[in-house]
Amino acid sequence: MDKKISLGILGGKLRSSLSPLMFEHYFGRFKLDISYKLYPVASDMLSFFLSKTRTSDIIGLNVTIPFKEKIIPLLDYLDPEAKIIGAVNVIHNSKGRLKGYNTDYTGFLKTLDKYDFLKTGNALVLGAGGAARGIIYGLSRMKFKNITFFSRNDEKINKILGNFHFISGLNGEQWKIEKIKEKMKNADIVVNATPVGMFPLENKSPVEVDFALKKKAIVYDLIYNPKVTKFLKLAKSKGAVVENGLWMLIYQALESLRLWIGEDLNEEFFIKSSTEVLNA
Ligand SMILES: NC(=O)c1ccc[n+]([C@@H]2O[C@H](COP(=O)([O-])OP(=O)(O)OC[C@H]3O[C@@H](n4cnc5c(N)ncnc54)[C@H](OP(=O)(O)O)[C@@H]3O)[C@@H](O)[C@H]2O)c1
Repeated sequence: MDKKISLGILGGKLRSSLSPLMFEHYFGRFKLDISYKLYPVASDMLSFFLSKTRTSDIIGLNVTIPFKEKIIPLLDYLDPEAKIIGAVNVIHNSKGRLKGYNTDYTGFLKTLDKYDFLKTGNALVLGAGGAARGIIYGLSRMKFKNITFFSRNDEKINKILGNFHFISGLNGEQWKIEKIKEKMKNADIVVNATPVGMFPLENKSPVEVDFALKKKAIVYDLIYNPKVTKFLKLAKSKGAVVENGLWMLIYQALESLRLWIGEDLNEEFFIKSSTEVLNA
């Protein structure tokens, strides 16, 4: 790398993002002249921010709540899978052209490799935002027979069902706790893709105490801060195999870096340094 590289994360509040910590630890340890900054932006300034980015030295951005979907029409190129998913979590500024990708779904899939007992029968996804779209697409790539997602918003449900019309066995349902609990009983994997459980909702769980789970069900909370959400605590007490969002965070970041710095990336060291700093 011959010139300084600037990267960052673009989102609304960015209060609980661990991305800067993870990237800067790696860049620092390997003496790479790369910076990673927070870019909190108000919704009505998003377009202006992106037009400035095109001519800036920022070559890459992660995108988080609430811009993963909103940002799509403002980009110059969309990777075909990000287009299908309808959400972008990585931007590459390639000589003034902003290109959008989705590494949330590849990161999510990678984290499931270790669960060789996981049956691809029934999957349950709580939420219908940018992350949920990637998760649903990822689960369909794993060939789950039934994928049910829940949202409070009918418009979002219909939009996702329309976008993912090619996924057989996909159901979108109104957020009703009794219905969610009923589906949980037969789910092989339950994914929380809502922010319920992270600040300022850290004392809440998307589904409270009285739920039942299948034997060996995986309960996966995309939240990584706190590491063990109330939902995961409850699921663990019922014998579930639990996973938080830390490994997905690491793998989606690794894929982002691959897009930004390609051959200069040392994959093995990135994983090692990220686990070191995130588990500290
Ligand atoms: N580990 C990782 O690498 C990683 C990557 C991406 C995201 N995440 C995490 O995943 C979560 C979702 O992110 P996102 O980007 O998809 O956000 P988003 O686009 O804002 O979507 C959030 C979804 O959660 C639903 N929701 C919000 N509050 C709710 C509540 N009180 N009860 C029920 N549903 C509620 C939303 O509303 P509707 O009901 O209106 O649909 C929406 O469907 C966040 O916690 C984020 O930090 C983690």
